Amino acid sequence: MTTSQTPATTRFLTGITTTGTPHLGNFVGSIRPSVEASRRPGVQSFYFLANYHALIKCEDPARIQRSTLEIAASWLAAGLDPAHVVFYRQSDIPEIPELNWLLSCVTGKGLLNRAHAYKASQDKNQAAGREADDGVTAGLFMYPVLMAADILMFKAHKVPVGRDQVQHIEMARDIAASFNHLYGEHFVAPEAVIDEHVATLPGLDGRKMSKSYDNTIPLFAPREQLRRLIQGMLTDSRAPGEPKETEGSALFQIYQAFATEAETAALRQRFAEGIAWGDAKQVLFERVDAVVAPMRERYEHLMAHPAEIEETLLAGAERARAVATPFLRELRSAVGLRSLSAQPAAAQPAAKASRAALPAFKQYREADGHFYFKLVAADGRLLLQSTGFTAPKEAGQAIARLQQSAADATEALQALQPQLAPVDGVTPSDVVAALQALHAAA
Ligand code: TRP
Repeated sequence: MTTSQTPATTRFLTGITTTGTPHLGNFVGSIRPSVEASRRPGVQSFYFLANYHALIKCEDPARIQRSTLEIAASWLAAGLDPAHVVFYRQSDIPEIPELNWLLSCVTGKGLLNRAHAYKASQDKNQAAGREADDGVTAGLFMYPVLMAADILMFKAHKVPVGRDQVQHIEMARDIAASFNHLYGEHFVAPEAVIDEHVATLPGLDGRKMSKSYDNTIPLFAPREQLRRLIQGMLTDSRAPGEPKETEGSALFQIYQAFATEAETAALRQRFAEGIAWGDAKQVLFERVDAVVAPMRERYEHLMAHPAEIEETLLAGAERARAVATPFLRELRSAVGLRSLSAQPAAAQPAAKASRAALPAFKQYREADGHFYFKLVAADGRLLLQSTGFTAPKEAGQAIARLQQSAADATEALQALQPQLAPVDGVTPSDVVAALQALHAAA
């Protein structure tokens, strides 16, 4: 419904929550592929430190500050070029919380009720016999709206994220559709990008490397600490000389993420020949250190000179605001936050000005005794017309299927094609946009 032509440059945007210290899993899963992606031609990248989001999870100010510094230093040390990528700190862009409010006012509370992260908190509380919203802040509840503001502010086309974030991108699309429906086409609908090739790294104990399991290897641990951590990795009890399995070996998987194919094949061979675990760990340690050492030097320099990072981030914020400031001005005007000395614009047509003016499903019975439904736009235009159903329940089910999910509205529409009569001058994307607007306001 928004810019359907392929833009000359594709805008990628992603945020990193500033609550922890980057580890090898973050490097392999996010930092390395993102830095590589930022160098591709035809790509414009916006990467930012999501420190407003961090406040939702972390109430330790020193840790927020420390993590912001460590993450910024890590990305820069890993080769992110701040002259090329717009690299900034969320809290340096006051337009983001302002947009957050504008978006809050077009986001159905029901949409947020359905967020997985919020529901997971509720389920946990229920299981523990507590009140459903126990310990849930309004910030947590509003998390998807703030994320939508991050994304929509910069008209991002693609948002590289982990699988757990996909629903948030879908919500950003819904919220954009809702705003566009009310106030005109201002936002671009973003798409999630999940890199299937990027491995999730196992941690010291073989489970996924994650801060919450306390099994991480810090990306920039000093060389000796890195050696000690790797030597302490959990392995099975096979003795030297006994063949070892590569399948399910955390050690092997980490090696693979840092080595070439030829090196990986060579280690696989040594596993089969019964390499001692101690030796395998030494091989892994040297391989990881060879990748990390040159970056570590840069990291340590940056950590010792935080003012350099501060300056880089402020320069990035200036570039980000060069986009955000005029765009927010446009949005403020669109919703009616306008100077009184300017001539009031002609009243908007009612269809656009009122929240109540959403598309609507109508169910009815015809003289032929069959049951029908149609979808009518706010201005009365017919968008969908069903063929006749023998029972009202069937018509109801078809409507429910269309209302269910904005994300797969296109598929739902296709699945129902046999029960729909053609409507002149209406494209499937008109219908999808209407369904998304309905969904967002639900
Ligand atoms: N919620 C994301 C995460 O936890 C971080 C984030 C905040 C983000 N704002 C964003 C990611 C905007 C992509 C786009 O991983």
